[in-house]
This record gives sequence, structure tokens and C-alpha cells, in this order.
Amino acid sequence: MEETKHLVGLLLGTEEDWSSAFETLVSRLGPIKDASGATHRVSTERITIEPFDLRDKPRYDLVVDRLAYWYFLPREWLKKVALMDDVYLLNSPFTFQSMEKHAAYCAMLRLGLKVPQTVLVPHKNPPENERFAYTAAKYNQPFDLDAIAERIGYPLFMKPYDGGQWIGVSHIRDSAELHRAYDESEERMMHLQASVEGYDVFARSLSIGAETMIMHFRPGEPMHDRYAVDHGFLTPDVGEEVLTISRLINAFFRWEFNSCETLVRGTEAYPIDYANASPDVALTSLHYYFPWAMSALLKWCAFCVVTGREPRLDLDTRRYFEIGDRDDLAYEEKLAAYRELADEYFEVDRYREFCDSRLAHVDELVLDWIISADFDRLLVRTVRSTYPAHEQERFLGHFRGLIGQWVSEHGGTATLSE
Ligand SMILES: Nc1ncnc2c1ncn2[C@@H]1O[C@H](COP(=O)(O)OP(=O)(O)O)[C@@H](O)[C@H]1O
Ligand SMILES: [Mg+2]
Repeated sequence: MEETKHLVGLLLGTEEDWSSAFETLVSRLGPIKDASGATHRVSTERITIEPFDLRDKPRYDLVVDRLAYWYFLPREWLKKVALMDDVYLLNSPFTFQSMEKHAAYCAMLRLGLKVPQTVLVPHKNPPENERFAYTAAKYNQPFDLDAIAERIGYPLFMKPYDGGQWIGVSHIRDSAELHRAYDESEERMMHLQASVEGYDVFARSLSIGAETMIMHFRPGEPMHDRYAVDHGFLTPDVGEEVLTISRLINAFFRWEFNSCETLVRGTEAYPIDYANASPDVALTSLHYYFPWAMSALLKWCAFCVVTGREPRLDLDTRRYFEIGDRDDLAYEEKLAAYRELADEYFEVDRYREFCDSRLAHVDELVLDWIISADFDRLLVRTVRSTYPAHEQERFLGHFRGLIGQWVSEHGGTATLSE
């Protein structure tokens, strides 16, 4: 019987670790039979950057984009293939570009989530535009930065309305720090946000399609130690809540490869950063969780292309707001209602069923590869390109240990050495 071929395009910048891992796993996936008995094969290709005719037909069924947030030609190409060719993109390029952290806060607030008090203030340095002086003289209201900060209360955070990677983020304790940070913000537009002080745990959830891993994150540690290997750090209720909020925001904005940050104090979950649709999946950051991430990415991509899941660029905000706007529903009831919509968007049941019936071999495939010399070579290469020579042995030991832990917990025997 004829095979249907599906090409997954990778739009990459400098990353070689997870992308090599993913390419290897896809190449080992083998044929997949769909419910009708037809056979599908998935392969990958790295996308190159070149001129494109808007009428060109792309060869890709699905694209994993890690580049377009800063490189504009591929960004526009993604929009073209989304609008014209129905190429499946894990993150909608439209919301990714226009729905900054700010828009995620707005949506979350209307949905009733516990976003700390947040105020957007005008740029310190005005936009360069000859019309500015006239416009500002006529329409800009003078404002008292100190008064805003006092209303929010110290300490607070000042952070870019759109940012990432902690760039331009400051923890502010008093008026002097407030003014220093504001002066330094220059052209970047800033939020002032109440600080969630004394939180018990920082939960960082990485979502890939219908799967989410909630990890105990320690922002004060160096990169290689930020994700703790910790399974019982949230109560089951709070764990469900964090999962629901993540899935909700991802469904709402059509983000299928995104990481979300929630601070948990007592039984309260405060979402602080939900727009990271090019999330960190580095082997040296995720370590123990890396095999999970690769396996989830493999399964979700296979699910999308083999089942012909249709890309959804439209947003159905109204359905979510109809729940959020109701006064008669408690927070927990709203979450339960959102969860239904979000599970429906991600086809959670169909995905599970697909994994069980069509991808039953994948867990073993991933385990076999993780214990192979091939994976260890990737780890060595990654460590060599990430750390200075005198630290490489130590880090290699560190990561082999963590991966070894994952292997032994997943029924394998680690043979992690060259
Ligand atoms: N409201 C807040 N309360 C407590 N900590 C915060 C708050 N906002 C930000 N932080 C801290 O600052 C870090 C960076 O802020 P975040 O909003 O995540 O920006 P970025 O998009 O740059 O990651 C967070 O990971 C967290 O450690
Ligand atoms: Mg963040």
C-alpha cells in the first residue's frame, strides 16, 4: 500500500542539541499506521532562508519554529505558509508576534486568574517620530511614577511589557531604585508589577501540544541547576490548577510549544509569565526532563501530521470570555469550564488514544536512544560547546548522572560513558 510522507521543517537559529535529538528520533520512528490502515512516514528537514515567491508551495506539513521571533524573513514566510498553504505551525505566528506578555496578562485577568497587580507606564524615552512633541504636548497626561509604585506597594518588579530571558527585569525596593530602573529602561516600555514575595515554589510548565511537564524551577541557581528533579513539590490540587492555567493560555492563543511560569504561595497560584513560545529546551537546562520533552515533541508532531489535525489560526476568545465574565461562577468552576475548552482544543482524548494505539513503541524508542552511545556523543558535544574546557568533565558527570536517573526510573540501565 502506498505511504503518505510528511515532512517536518525545522526553522532553527544556533541550537544543535535538541534539534539533533529530535531529528534522530524522527528518523527512528518508522512507519505509522493510521486508523484506516494507511501507512505514514515522517521525516525532518532544516529550513534554509532564501527569497520566496508568495505563490510557491511549501513542501512541509508542519514547521517547528525557533527563529522567527528575531529573524523577519522566516517570520513572514511562516505567515505566508500559514495563511496560504495550511502548514501546521506549533505556535500561531500571528499571536506569537502580537500577543506579548502584556496581552497574556490582559487575557488572564479577564479570565479571572490571579495575575499580580500590573500597570503599564509610557516609555522613558519617547518614540523617535517628528509628530511626538505635538502629540505629547496635546495628549500625554503627566503621571507620578512614585504614586503608582506606592499604590502597588514595594517591593515590586519593573519589567518589559514584551520581554524574555529576564532582560531589563528589576526587583525594586524603593523610590531611588524605581527611578534608576525607569531611567535605564530608555526606549523599552515597562510594566510595574506587584511582587509575589515569599512564594513557596516557582512552577515552570513546559507544554508541547496536549502534554505539560510542571517543573520545580529555582531562578536563583545557575542555568544547569534551575530545574530541580522533584516530583511531589505541588499538592495535587495546585498541580492541576497550574496545568489547567497553562493549557488554557496555550489553547486561547494557539501556542503549542510554550513555557509558563507560576509562583505558588500557600494554596494560591499566581501566573507571572505565560508568553514564552520559543521555550528553553536545551539539553543542559532540561537534563532529566529532556527525554520527556523530545518524546512529547515527537508524539505531538506525529499526531498532527498523521491525523491531519487542522491548524487553527482563528481565536475563539468569546467562548472563553463568556465563562470569564460570569459572576455566578467561582474561580474553581471557571477553571473547570476552561479546562474543557482547552482539552477540546488540544484533542486530549484523541491524542492519548493515538499515542496508545499508534505510538506505543515511542517510549521504548526514546529510552533505547537515550542509553545509546549516540546520545552520549550528543551530550559530550553539547557540553563541549557550552562550557569552558576546565568545567567540561564536571558538567559531563553532572548531566550523565541526571540522565542516568531518568533512565533508571524508566526501566532502563544506563551505560553512560564513552
Ligand atoms: N510579580 C513577580 N513576583 C515575583 N517574582 C517575579 C515577578 N515577576 C517577575 N519575577 C521574577 O523575575 C523573573 C523574570 O520575570 P519574567 O516576567 O518571567 O520575565 P522574562 O519574560 O524576562 O522571563 C521571574 O522568573 C521571577 O523570578
Ligand atoms: Mg520568565
